[in-house]
Amino acid sequence: MANAGEALKGLVLAGGTGSRLRPLTYTRSKQLLPVANQPILFYAIEALVAAGITDVGVVVGDTAREIEAAVGDGRALGCRITYIPQAAPLGLAHAVATAAPFLDGHPFLMYLGDNLLKGGVAHFAQRFLESDWDAGIMLTAVPHPEQFGVAVVDERTGGVVRLVEKPAIPPSNLALVGVYLFRPAIFDVVDGLSPSARGELEITDALQGLLDRGRTVHAEQVDGWWKDTGKPEDLLEANRLVLEDLEPLRAANASVDAESQVSGRVALHAGVVVRRSTLRGPVVLGPGTIVEDSFIGPFTSLGGGVRVVHTEIENSIVLAEAVLEDVPGRIDGSLLGQGTRVTRRRAAPRAITLVTGDHCLVEVL
Ligand code: G1P
Repeated sequence: MANAGEALKGLVLAGGTGSRLRPLTYTRSKQLLPVANQPILFYAIEALVAAGITDVGVVVGDTAREIEAAVGDGRALGCRITYIPQAAPLGLAHAVATAAPFLDGHPFLMYLGDNLLKGGVAHFAQRFLESDWDAGIMLTAVPHPEQFGVAVVDERTGGVVRLVEKPAIPPSNLALVGVYLFRPAIFDVVDGLSPSARGELEITDALQGLLDRGRTVHAEQVDGWWKDTGKPEDLLEANRLVLEDLEPLRAANASVDAESQVSGRVALHAGVVVRRSTLRGPVVLGPGTIVEDSFIGPFTSLGGGVRVVHTEIENSIVLAEAVLEDVPGRIDGSLLGQGTRVTRRRAAPRAITLVTGDHCLVEVL
């Protein structure tokens, strides 16, 4: 039986380049992209705090300054944050090795900072502390297991038999989601790992190393949905999933005129102004956002200081201070970066005029 007094530390990974989310990740860390107007990373930290974990290490890479500016010392989120610089993104097992001085022999819960789990991790963390497992992983059935770490589980015991990272021919459809629990035995394995085909030290290989040494790796199936927000469509889906549970809100100084119609769950933050428009929830409008003569349809998150005039939009994420004005057709399934302007050209020639950064995607009617 494990030492009942041992406290779990938290380890949140917030490095990586987010190349599949360019151009947004040229100017911001992928873990700070908003889902329902809150950075993805905050959901991870909140999940740890809800599991009673208050001593949290955040592994950071090139975007360290931005992450530190957003998360601070953690007090606002109910925990104490220690930043752990990782010199290069050399893999999840490398991040664990880098964090060894912070973890200091404690059992720990590692959470990938771009993952979202509806059911949280409190139950799993509790079960782990009551067990003598050397590691615990969370799994979920997925349609494309070859894109993830994959586990084979003994259904009778819940024990993991085999693990393989992104196999060409998956031995099961159970993907490892980005949540792991470890006791210090993991360090015996991490130190001897060799880089994988993608040049990283894989945590999946480290877990297999535990199995090879006769250690126990326990698996639990995820309760509720899980989303890895690596690609734009994932971010939009995460936005839809989180908005499904949106708490309606009408800030005292948010105003909606008599000519507007609001239905469904809608959160209107401080200073929001809505005139002659239709809001059909779930929708969140950040502080100071102005909507005039427009339609804001389901599953839309507009950040702070956004202006939407004579435009229709749904199922989209719009970052702060963007302006959408007189846009013909309805904007759908879109991800618009901070300060983006989308307007209708009035002057001749009636042409499409684009000023886009690298790796933007524009689809016109
Ligand atoms: C990483 C892990 C993989 C896991 C996935 C979950 O993959 O290597 O085993 O299934 O996270 O999000 P990556 O996002 O580095 O491709």
